[in-house]
Amino acid sequence: MLKSFAAAAAALIVASGFGQAQAQDYPSRPITMIVPFSAGGPTDTVTRLVAEAMGKDLGQQIVVENVGGAGGTLGAGRVAKADKDGYTLLLHHIGMATSATLYRKLPYDTLNAFDYVGLVTDVPMTLVARSDFEPKDLKGLIEYVKTNKDKVTYANAGVGAASHLCGMLFMSKIETPLTTVPYKGTGPAMTDLVGKQVDFMCDQTTNTTNQIKSGKIKAYVTTTKQRVASLPDIPTAEEAGLPGFEVGIWHGIYAPKGTSPEIIKKLTASLQKALKDPTVVQRFADLGTQPSSEADATPDALKAKLTSEIDRWAPVIKAAGVYAD
Ligand code: MLT
Repeated sequence: MLKSFAAAAAALIVASGFGQAQAQDYPSRPITMIVPFSAGGPTDTVTRLVAEAMGKDLGQQIVVENVGGAGGTLGAGRVAKADKDGYTLLLHHIGMATSATLYRKLPYDTLNAFDYVGLVTDVPMTLVARSDFEPKDLKGLIEYVKTNKDKVTYANAGVGAASHLCGMLFMSKIETPLTTVPYKGTGPAMTDLVGKQVDFMCDQTTNTTNQIKSGKIKAYVTTTKQRVASLPDIPTAEEAGLPGFEVGIWHGIYAPKGTSPEIIKKLTASLQKALKDPTVVQRFADLGTQPSSEADATPDALKAKLTSEIDRWAPVIKAAGVYAD
């Protein structure tokens, strides 16, 4: 009895010593950061900017890997099951919270499968359409959509995506269901919107700003209280007569549950530095957003945000009667 206890204690000491040694050398090889949507979309854009800055700070490349599908839950599930060694991370957004209610069978337990690194940014959304879409303003769009609801097509990145959430809010606001065209990300959806293969969508300014400015798509409103500085001519939904159509897409970085606290601390410190990197700050501003504050780029802030957002959106989703199996 005594011998086995001593052996167990020794094993524990060795393991924790090994853990600390691992953390001290971390990172000793490239890190993978999973984007749970296709390349070229808003989540991908945010991730590549932050990953580059964090990689420079940590002295190891952060390789961005796109794992799209099921509104972001496939990519999140991949990270939930990854080794807890700090070499597989997830950058995801509000979909982490909405999917907890939308999906009846998630491949992970949202509040128990991840450790938290910190919040990254909160991105406004824009209601945008193909450049030759007939409606001239939001009022005209609502009338047109109601009259042509069986013809009009709305693009999103699958149930659980930010574009899905925004579309669900819009449909419940105008009390009109829409024909939805799902993609693995709004990167490919944007290609079809610019190509006039789909009529309209709600997407983040990190993906729509350049297309709006170049005239390749048209924008009706932003889903923000104030106008977006980089899109000063686009009215808010409230200004355009649709009060309450507001949603911000917050993003956070996660690691598999059980990752060593020393490694999480290193990642959080690196994220906070990356969010002050002038290139990141400028690119975010050009794309209509800004980095989270140092106080928000922390594990506690991300955990609190995720928990409160699950509680906030659950009744809205249930009232809309939307879910996925
Ligand atoms: C979303 O709608 O959740 C995102 O736009 C998906 C993406 O980043 O492609």
